[in-house]
Amino acid sequence: MTLLEKIHSRTARIGVIGLGYVGLPLVIEFCRAGFHVTGFDIDEKKIASLGQWESYIRHIDLSSVRQEIEGRFDATADFSKLAAMDCIIICVPTPLNKNREPDMRFVFDTTRTIARYLRREQLVVLESTTYPGTTDQDVREILEAGGLTAGWDFHLAFSPEREDPNNKDFGLGSIPKVVGGLTPACLEAATAMYKAIVKGTVPVSSPRVAEAAKLLENIYRSVNIALVNELKMLFDRMGIDVWEVIEAAKTKPFGFQAFHPGPGLGGHCIPIDPFYLTWKAREFDFHTRFIELAGEINTAMPDYVVLKVMKALNAVGKHLQGSRILLLGLAYKENVDDDRESPSYRLMEKLEELGAVVSYNDPCIPVIRPSREYAKFAGRRSQPIDGTCDLILIATAHAEYREIDFAALNVPIVDTRNVLRGKSPLFFKA
Ligand SMILES: NC(=O)c1ccc[n+]([C@@H]2O[C@H](COP(=O)([O-])OP(=O)(O)OC[C@H]3O[C@@H](n4cnc5c(N)ncnc54)[C@H](O)[C@@H]3O)[C@@H](O)[C@H]2O)c1
Repeated sequence: MTLLEKIHSRTARIGVIGLGYVGLPLVIEFCRAGFHVTGFDIDEKKIASLGQWESYIRHIDLSSVRQEIEGRFDATADFSKLAAMDCIIICVPTPLNKNREPDMRFVFDTTRTIARYLRREQLVVLESTTYPGTTDQDVREILEAGGLTAGWDFHLAFSPEREDPNNKDFGLGSIPKVVGGLTPACLEAATAMYKAIVKGTVPVSSPRVAEAAKLLENIYRSVNIALVNELKMLFDRMGIDVWEVIEAAKTKPFGFQAFHPGPGLGGHCIPIDPFYLTWKAREFDFHTRFIELAGEINTAMPDYVVLKVMKALNAVGKHLQGSRILLLGLAYKENVDDDRESPSYRLMEKLEELGAVVSYNDPCIPVIRPSREYAKFAGRRSQPIDGTCDLILIATAHAEYREIDFAALNVPIVDTRNVLRGKSPLFFKA
């Protein structure tokens, strides 16, 4: 049977490498579509959890799909099983290193592992967000080192993930999937595979176009968020509420898309991905000024919020040094447990450096997990929301917070997310 015949008959074995926010939903969808799927990860704890049908991602409920997919799913840290896969999808992290340059270790380590087991007729698809040229140059070179030729002996493609975790309107299946293959045959194999799980595929002429499309989407968000953050600061000085302005502007039925200000950028994508292009652009003697400017404005937002906290404390005759601040929301966005790159940690750090005593509440994050960047916060626990602090700082608009009667707490509230909409006498916008 050819690869295409195996895909069409659902007998192709699918291997997903990296079982995180992107990889785990993919595993579930391919299983639901009738494929046998093997999930690969170097994190043994994740493999053990999956063996018990326990999810480690809050919004992914494994028990509800267990009946549907049991028998067609297994998870392993034994990468020799890659040899048995027909299609291999790479979903490993693409962070920045401490110099804010692409850290491609995870992608390249994974690719080297695949190269060890690569065989004819296999399809390898990279989904990790990255700079144009990763798939057809870097990944290809590593895979071909064993003697097989991409586009001839095996298929190679790039297809970006557009997952928006916990978005109730758009899930994996309803978001069109952009696919770029090294050759027309690579494209055909990759689109055939994705057609089994998504409503529509968008074939493009090369992996580079697909890589660039993903970066354009995220740079567009980063630049527009920077724009509203800048206007928020200006309108504040002018006595105008930026949230009301956005509500009015978005009634225009064409040519305007609403973006909202916040305490700074967070998550694994928007603060990071644009700099993959900035880095690559240098090779072409090109300076990405829009990306840099947006980064500059967005990374300065926590300082603006700290200033607002100081002003709010001043207004009630207190100063920051020694004040007890309860920060609401560690997750970078509402109703998820993802705290990667969250501006809340920057806020905690800055406030504590200035002598404040900071505790936090987050219904999605009961305990702060260990992380490389903020190791000092690991182990701290979510605290109840009451009026025993000197100030409450809202950093994330979790649904639970909209139910709270903040006015009754009788403490100053600094709101970066328009949760209160002015409904407290001691309310300060930030
Ligand atoms: N999270 C999102 O919403 C989102 C959306 C679009 C694109 N992306 C992109 O998708 C990629 C993955 O992101 P994520 O959020 O799923 O990351 P994640 O950190 O949630 O998951 C990555 C997984 O890969 C595993 N891993 C790391 N190195 C490995 C290796 N060498 N072999 C096998 N497994 C390995 C980790 O243990 C982890 O379980 C990134 O490039 C990211 O930019 C993420």
